[in-house]
Amino acid sequence: MKLAPSILAADLTDLAGALRVCEEGGADLIHVDVMDGHFVPNLSFGIPVIADLAKRTRLPLDVHLMVSNPDRLLDDYLAAGSDRVTVHWEAATHLDRLLARIREAGGKAGVALNPATPVELLEDALPALDLVLLMSVNPGFAGQAFRPGALDKARRLSAMIERRGLEVEIAMDGGLDAETTPRAVAAGVEMCVVGSAIFKRADPVAAMAEIRARAGSPRE
Ligand code: DX5
Ligand code: ZN
Repeated sequence: MKLAPSILAADLTDLAGALRVCEEGGADLIHVDVMDGHFVPNLSFGIPVIADLAKRTRLPLDVHLMVSNPDRLLDDYLAAGSDRVTVHWEAATHLDRLLARIREAGGKAGVALNPATPVELLEDALPALDLVLLMSVNPGFAGQAFRPGALDKARRLSAMIERRGLEVEIAMDGGLDAETTPRAVAAGVEMCVVGSAIFKRADPVAAMAEIRARAGSPRE
């Protein structure tokens, strides 16, 4: 399982400290939640923050765009140092074009699905995707309760990917902790985004170790 701490849940006055936690805890990626106050009610980070994070860490940046118009600044997110860019299915009018632009710029291309959006809608987009991010909360805020409906979506998506013989990573985001992460992994999730269950703990590095230890291997 890959672990991607979501720095939205960290102390935002100390992002350098959050990066140190991720590195010490052996994170695979750093999850960066971009919110525009329109697609989701909240506001968070923008391009200058991504650029500064990229300068401060060797870990890849997994950028989750919760924005209404991902088309508009896509090239800037990539140029700022995003290694993976995930756009929301619900916000992408021309998904195929967006995904191609991400790959052309050398990034990994992802799509995120809100809880009510079925995985079956991705049947034709799968070959253009490097990852699918299944939201296990309604996006916009850290610290929400895990929605178990995401587990069945992971199982269905896993079967779709296998049937086609493709290599598309299944990621999950929202409400994941030491209890829910093993359930996600058992359902076929390969990359877990974890915010509060790392950064709201007294010892975030130990929290990462616990989550990993309890997660087991994929499809066990
Ligand atoms: C929710 C964000 C998540 C969030 C995860 O809109 O996309 O990445 O920060 O935080 P937790 O793990 O606290 O749900
Ligand atoms: Zn996210």
